Amino acid sequence: MNLLIVNGPNLNLLGRREPGIYGTRSFDDFFPELEAAFPDLQLAHFQSNHEGALLDKLHEVGFTHHGIVLNAGAYTHTSIALADAVAAIATPVIEVHLSNLAAREEFRQKSLLGRHCAGCISGFGLESYRLAVQWFVNQQPKRVGFRV
Ligand code: DQA
Repeated sequence: MNLLIVNGPNLNLLGRREPGIYGTRSFDDFFPELEAAFPDLQLAHFQSNHEGALLDKLHEVGFTHHGIVLNAGAYTHTSIALADAVAAIATPVIEVHLSNLAAREEFRQKSLLGRHCAGCISGFGLESYRLAVQWFVNQQPKRVGFRV
């Protein structure tokens, strides 16, 4: 099973960016640990600060991959184009966030992506990504229900 983790704007700064909210660990530090936890998966990671690059990546993998774990960062709350892309592709998407959006500013509590995603995991730091990957693993026996 091949899964892609897609990180949006400012997530390249994880570990340095507002550590009280997002933690002290970079995604690059965490990713090998995630790979080691799921040795049977083909896991890859893509990050961009650019909306168009995120769209292109979703289009590129969204009809071939088994799953996408998407943290669109602030674009979660603003990007109709990303929401349309998630709706357009066949690959199921899980929305993830490091922080607990329900406990944050009101403008973060609206996700334009959520209605097109299989679900949302928010508030568990980097663990949110692991939980999302685990969901795809758990679905594997029931893959008939997948759109790919
Ligand atoms: C975030 C939450 C967003 O509101 C914010 O813009 C981010 C990170 C999170 O992972 O908690 O960049 O997606």
